[in-house]
Amino acid sequence: MPRLREISEIVETLDLESWDERARTNMAAAPVDALEDGKVLYFPRLAFALSGNETRFLSPGAVNPGAKNVSFDSKTGAVKHARGSETDIAAITAMMRRYSDAAAALVTRLFPQYAQDLVRGRTSFRPVEISGRETSPRKDDTRLHVDAFPSSPVGRRRILRVFTNVNPGTQSRHWRLGDRFEKVAQTFVPAVSKPLPGSAWLMKSVGITKGERTQYDHLMLNIHDTMKSRDDYQRDVVQNEFHFPPGSTWIVFTDQVSHAAMGGQHLFEQTFYLPVHAMANEQKSPLRVLERATGRALV
Ligand code: SIN
Ligand code: FE
Repeated sequence: MPRLREISEIVETLDLESWDERARTNMAAAPVDALEDGKVLYFPRLAFALSGNETRFLSPGAVNPGAKNVSFDSKTGAVKHARGSETDIAAITAMMRRYSDAAAALVTRLFPQYAQDLVRGRTSFRPVEISGRETSPRKDDTRLHVDAFPSSPVGRRRILRVFTNVNPGTQSRHWRLGDRFEKVAQTFVPAVSKPLPGSAWLMKSVGITKGERTQYDHLMLNIHDTMKSRDDYQRDVVQNEFHFPPGSTWIVFTDQVSHAAMGGQHLFEQTFYLPVHAMANEQKSPLRVLERATGRALV
């Protein structure tokens, strides 16, 4: 049996019932400090309401076969992998835009100091059950990992995500939460070799990456892949199970918090990017932690 962490080190609960009300909290620290410390901010009663007409999209049939989620870009209005008639797809798009706007209102309210620098990324709707899905270890999100994107380097930016379980029944989103990022860095940094000289430029010029893969991105991808590939680490590392029930929302820096999604169906997720300089304390960012661990600048 792996060791457990104190739940108070992992999750901070906030009692919010609407996306645009001010948070009532009895937290010792400000929400931004808890978030930057690598805690999950958890809103057990913050639900995302769907209309009667929208609940019919809570079905794997709303996604193209082969895809896991519908993805929406609020900047362009483009929606990918949605399945249905033109009217259905327009309704799915409208539902995702509403979630995206709600999530943006929530984070700007909770973290006013981020508002100016926060960039909205993709919105994702996940109506497919997680457990039992076949994938390669690298793509397997039931293994503990920190998020890192192979084709979209983040450089100096953090990955902040808002999740809401919209399951119409009683099924929770079942996660595992792993070790602190400092420990993850200690465990995996020594094994990572430097990228080959010229490889970042090459991947950019042939279109493997959108923009240059920095040394930070290289290191994070290696940590992501190595963590997922090691069965002993997955089994033995300190970790806790957490069940996010239907009608709950949570916010996480997923580049920092070691997480695995074990089961669940019907989820909304909104990604944001935040430059490290906009943090209350950028020394807590994975970028700065890894720079201290390696003793060199990584971007
Ligand atoms: C992940 O970010 O690893 C997956 C989260 C989820 O779908 O619950
Ligand atoms: Fe992830």
